[in-house]
Amino acid sequence: MTAGASFQGLFDREPDGRWAAPGRVNLIGEHVDYAQGLCLPFAIAEHTVVEAAARDDDRVRIRSLAEDGGFDGSLDGVGPGAPGAWAGYAVGVLWALRAAGHPVRGMDLLVTDSVPLGAGLSSSAALECSTALAVTDLFGLRLGRDALIPACIRAENEVVGAATGGMDQAASLLATTGHALLLDTRDGATRQVPFAPAGEGLALIVIDTRVRHHLADGQYGARRAAVEKAAAALGMPSLRDATLADLERLDPDLLPRARHVVTEIARVAETVALLDAGRPGDIGPLLDASHASLAVDYEVSCAELDLACAAAREAGALGARMTGGGFGGSAIALVAAERAEAMVAHVTSAFAKAGHTAPEIREAVPSAGAHRL
Ligand code: GLA
Repeated sequence: MTAGASFQGLFDREPDGRWAAPGRVNLIGEHVDYAQGLCLPFAIAEHTVVEAAARDDDRVRIRSLAEDGGFDGSLDGVGPGAPGAWAGYAVGVLWALRAAGHPVRGMDLLVTDSVPLGAGLSSSAALECSTALAVTDLFGLRLGRDALIPACIRAENEVVGAATGGMDQAASLLATTGHALLLDTRDGATRQVPFAPAGEGLALIVIDTRVRHHLADGQYGARRAAVEKAAAALGMPSLRDATLADLERLDPDLLPRARHVVTEIARVAETVALLDAGRPGDIGPLLDASHASLAVDYEVSCAELDLACAAAREAGALGARMTGGGFGGSAIALVAAERAEAMVAHVTSAFAKAGHTAPEIREAVPSAGAHRL
């Protein structure tokens, strides 16, 4: 960790600029982005900031004010598994853009601020996307944001080795204030869907259970593999067009996994219809159903996430669900603004009674995507 250090102090030069990219909350559409499904994330106000300066050789130096380690080496040495740990998210983006044929050279980069780490709010995508914008500007790449998404995904999938689906990177790069991003992962199409809870007397509260989970471990990959196996067993390219009736042909071990995907995609479409109709206060039952499906059929929840949702509902939340990859991280609860404070107190005391670590609770406000500062 290099807390208190400055770019000048570390690299003996001034940065050429600063770039920020937000974390995300997924409103609904969980564990479907690797199954050609629909998801509906929004960018949060918390973001990662990088300071960077271009180099005219291939050396890359990366440090963070918040984390130990980093990277100091040649871009030629970067590839699958190298560098490991958090620096791979950033250096991997340079590697992927260069591999795509863009004139990327070395860089000095300091992470000065970060989305809360390990809270399931996509700090990794925020680091990738802020780095991607820095690289684009510093080397004059003529690339739209759509073209940066695959490079960020390659960094995560190939350099870090986390087989995630791509929702987080799209949210961080494409989200806009006051909207959720409808992302169709079959063709990458996106649409901004109005979602500004505060304007409707609502609050979207994020409950970070403080249970930390790493997506590069086996569970996430096992779910992804099960979904791909189910699609193959049905002779379909993905579960996107599967119906519940189709799923009856599946083995009993695959059926619940596939059922989650099929029902979750339908819930996203219903949520979008309600938001388009100006009825955000009516999406609660869909959030509840999403959580039940993730907990029972998909088995990616945990005791702390279940408790967060149950306690939020007891205290009057309109709906609550885990968000992100699961096995820890955060839950979200939609609540009337005037009940938010009491709900937070109730969830906090439920955690204390159960003997769990105190959760960290914050309001999530649909915010802007990545930008230069
Ligand atoms: C993680 C991954 C995403 C997505 C979610 C689950 O956040 O990074 O790609 O699969 O889990 O919806």
